[in-house]
Amino acid sequence: MSDDSTIVVRPAHSVRGVVRIPGDKSISHRYAMLAAIAEGTSRFHNFSAARDCASTLDCVAKLGCEWKRSNDADGAIEVPGIGPRLKAPTETLDCGNSGSTMRMLSGILAGQPFTSELCGDDSLSRRPMARIMTPLSEMGAKILSSEGGRPPLKIQGGPLKAIHYMPEVASAQVKSCVLFAGLFADGETVVEEPIRTRDHGEIALRAFGAEVERKGNASRIVGGQRLHAIEAHVPGDLSSAAFFLCAAALFPGSQITLPGILMNPTRARLLDILMQMGLGVAVAHLESQQGELVGTIEARGAEWKGTAIAGADTAALIDEIPVLAAVAPYSSGGLEVRDGKELRVKESDRIAAVAANLRKMGAEIEERPDGMKIPGNQRLHGAELDSFGDHRIAMAFAIAALRAEGETTIHGADAAGVSYPAFFRDLESIATS
Ligand code: S3P
Repeated sequence: MSDDSTIVVRPAHSVRGVVRIPGDKSISHRYAMLAAIAEGTSRFHNFSAARDCASTLDCVAKLGCEWKRSNDADGAIEVPGIGPRLKAPTETLDCGNSGSTMRMLSGILAGQPFTSELCGDDSLSRRPMARIMTPLSEMGAKILSSEGGRPPLKIQGGPLKAIHYMPEVASAQVKSCVLFAGLFADGETVVEEPIRTRDHGEIALRAFGAEVERKGNASRIVGGQRLHAIEAHVPGDLSSAAFFLCAAALFPGSQITLPGILMNPTRARLLDILMQMGLGVAVAHLESQQGELVGTIEARGAEWKGTAIAGADTAALIDEIPVLAAVAPYSSGGLEVRDGKELRVKESDRIAAVAANLRKMGAEIEERPDGMKIPGNQRLHGAELDSFGDHRIAMAFAIAALRAEGETTIHGADAAGVSYPAFFRDLESIATS
């Protein structure tokens, strides 16, 4: 790395080794938030090292919950819960780059008897919040945005009433936000999704002792339930593992082992798609930890084929599409992504960012309003790329660079720390030149 935010990636011939992937970001956010409103002290091992999760912990601290990192070797996070009623913050809650922090914490803040303000960085300030403002307002909270549905937000919490909410977008953040608010509501709150999204909110609520019923695409929670502290090991983040799996897919004969990875079926569709595309995948040591399925992934590179991703698959793979797209030109059949309008409102416009970087590497790509089509059998060359301030774009193109001709420079590479601070070190440890 030449400075804090520029990195040079050289071509590799293979990848081989074991990577210990940090704790899942989605689960870590939810654990920290629910632990804050639980009774007793929770302890989390392998809590995500992501900057996004540090944003959640900072917010939780400003709400009166004095979490700390334990002194023992594994540096577990200890969160002394203060029960359902948090302390009114004396300053703005800075959610940094984290949409999850802002959207899910809003659900809890909507039920508090005080006003709070939430802000974020430039990227988060461009992201849509109407999707949580609408249901929380229906429940009785007052939410103001001076920016037409974008951050900063001002939330005047108070007594909430239960709703039956049918979101237009398939979003697990929205579902968790409304279910968390449902804890503070009078009656039974239901979220009925258009497509089933990741269910870490429901699983975490149950782990903390709440009853959450799920039937089909509807999740229900009755308000007034008390949460109780837990001790949990956070499984390795499958969305972070995806980068190494795609690296293995690039080189026939490569072999990597990823122990303790989240295998929750609402996230693991990625493995089916990678197998369809030719990656050899075996999962061993399956077990359940606090209701979440965990296993060790063994992956072997073979022939890399193409595929198409659409509908519910696009929603299930929304965080992995940047890396799948970045390595698609090297496949024999290419990649088509449809129904991915949401990709345009992530940490960056991920369709535009992928297209810009692939073109700089000499690839052909057809950009569409809600997706892209990338032909296969292309040869890419090293280039000067931009992360667009987006962690997944920085990491996706580090993987694409492994098979390019010549060196690739990625500006703004420190964005990777938003979800995976040790990413480049771990990548270096498995890439052989
Ligand atoms: C997340 C849900 C997804 C995903 C994000 C994490 C979560 O966002 O892209 O990285 O933890 O619930 P949406 O809810 O906006 O689809």
